[in-house]
Amino acid sequence: MEGDRCLSKEPNIVMGKGRLRVAIDGPAGAGKSTVARTVAKKLGYTYLDTGAMYRALALTAVTRRIPLDDPLLLGEMARSIQMTVRDDNGLFRVWVDGQELTGRLRDPGTDKAVKLLAMHRPVREVLVDIQRSLAKEGGVVMEGRDITSVVLPDAEVKIFLTGDVRERARRRWQELRAKGVKIHWEEVLEELIQRDRKDLEREWGKLVRVPDAHLVDTTGKTQDEVVAEILKLCEEKEIALHNR
Ligand code: DC
Repeated sequence: MEGDRCLSKEPNIVMGKGRLRVAIDGPAGAGKSTVARTVAKKLGYTYLDTGAMYRALALTAVTRRIPLDDPLLLGEMARSIQMTVRDDNGLFRVWVDGQELTGRLRDPGTDKAVKLLAMHRPVREVLVDIQRSLAKEGGVVMEGRDITSVVLPDAEVKIFLTGDVRERARRRWQELRAKGVKIHWEEVLEELIQRDRKDLEREWGKLVRVPDAHLVDTTGKTQDEVVAEILKLCEEKEIALHNR
C-alpha cells in the first residue's frame, strides 16, 4: 500500500502505516537507555533520552550558580535557555545555548545536582513541553520516569521496564568496572536503593506504573530478549492500528 513503511529490519515484522510513539519508564539501572536506543534503531525511529535533558539543565544550573533548591529561579533558567537535542545514531546529544554538554552529563557533580533539580515542578513543566513537541510527529522511543504517566499518556506503546534491584546493581557495577571505576558492589546497590526512593517519592513526575503500561521485567533476561519483547509489542500495536 502506498505510504506504508517497513516497521523494522527484523524479519516477519508487519508493514504498517503509523509512526508509533513508544514510551518507556522504569527505575535506574533497568537498562532503559540501551534497550530504548536499540529498539529505536531497529524501528528506524528517533531515540529520546529525557534523563539527559534533566542532566543538561542541572549542569547549566551548577555552572551558573543557581541554587538547586530555588524552584522559581530554576524554572526561569529553564524557560530562558535554548535546548537542542539530537539522536546521533544512538548517541543522544544535548546543547544548551549553543554549547554541547553531552560529554559532561554523567559527571559525579551532575549526578548529584540532577536529583535535586528534577524535584521542581517549574523545571519539569518546561521539559515536559519540549518533550511533547519532540514526539509530535511520532516515530520516537522516549525513555524516562514520567513518560507514560505525564509526557505521553496517550502513547501507542507504553512500557514499564524494571528488574530486581540486586541484578540492576550488579549490571551497573560491571559497567563501572569495565570503565575502570573501582567501587564495591554494596556501594552501587545502596546508591540504587537511594535513587529508587528518590524516584518514587518525588512529588512531581514520580515514577509510577500506569495501569495500561506493559510490564517488562529484565531479571534473568538478555538485552536481546528484552528488545525482542518490546519489538513484538510494537508489532502487535501496528497490526491493531492497521486493522482498525
Ligand atoms: O535516567 P537518568 O539517570 O539519566 O535520569 C537522571 C535524573 O533525572 C534522575 O534523577 C531521574 C530524573 N528524571 C526525571 O525526573 N524524569 C525523567 N523523565 C527522566 C529523568
